[in-house]
Amino acid sequence: MFISFEGIDGSGKSTQAKLLVKKLEEGNRNVLFLREPGGTEISEQIRNILLNKKNLKMTQIAELLLFSASRAQLVSEVIKPALLNNIVVITDRFVDSTTVYQGHGRGLHHGGIKGINSIATMGVMPKKTFFIDITVQEMYARRQANHQETDRMEMSNDEFFERVRQGYLELAKEEPGRFVVIDGKQPIEAIHEIIWKEVDGMLPTHSK
Ligand SMILES: Nc1ncnc2c1ncn2[C@@H]1O[C@H](COP(=O)(O)OP(=O)(O)O)[C@@H](O)[C@H]1O
Ligand SMILES: [Mg+2]
Repeated sequence: MFISFEGIDGSGKSTQAKLLVKKLEEGNRNVLFLREPGGTEISEQIRNILLNKKNLKMTQIAELLLFSASRAQLVSEVIKPALLNNIVVITDRFVDSTTVYQGHGRGLHHGGIKGINSIATMGVMPKKTFFIDITVQEMYARRQANHQETDRMEMSNDEFFERVRQGYLELAKEEPGRFVVIDGKQPIEAIHEIIWKEVDGMLPTHSK
């Protein structure tokens, strides 16, 4: 089973993904937790290029292809084999991030992105995607509360993040079977319960 977490910066993806991993491990499930971009030696090297603030000259196309290259490596080296071994794979971001950040956010051609996404994933898609939704205002508030240093991707302007958020909402509407939209302003524990209920219902019962 493959589950991904999506949402803008600070929405609670990492928090919730870790809680879900912990819960699954408590139930003696085999779990693999991965972050994107990253998760393999090559993908982590690509991650450093992508997030490095010095790389301001990076073109939007180069950015798209680097995210996709990182993902292609991760899918082939890690995700596919894990799924074949019945391991539950949980990712902090996946292909939907490319659709909304490079597509809705940067404005790159959607058809082109779709094609590149399908090459990078080789058709391996999450069974469930939890989109944790917060406003752009909430994103800034959380960032400030954490005195968090911003990376290259996080340096974009309000309008960019607003387009990204709307992109996620659009995707969720297009694929209601895969997406679960969660109001990210709820308490951490309440969100975890929504996620757990959904995942628990999907787990094969025999090895519970
Ligand atoms: N439901 C929530 N309500 C309030 N704060 C939250 C909630 N979920 C996460 N946070 C806080 O917001 C910040 C960003 O959370 P994080 O999980 O790192 O988000 P992301 O991985 O999506 O960037 C952290 O300080 C975290 O403790
Ligand atoms: Mg995170």
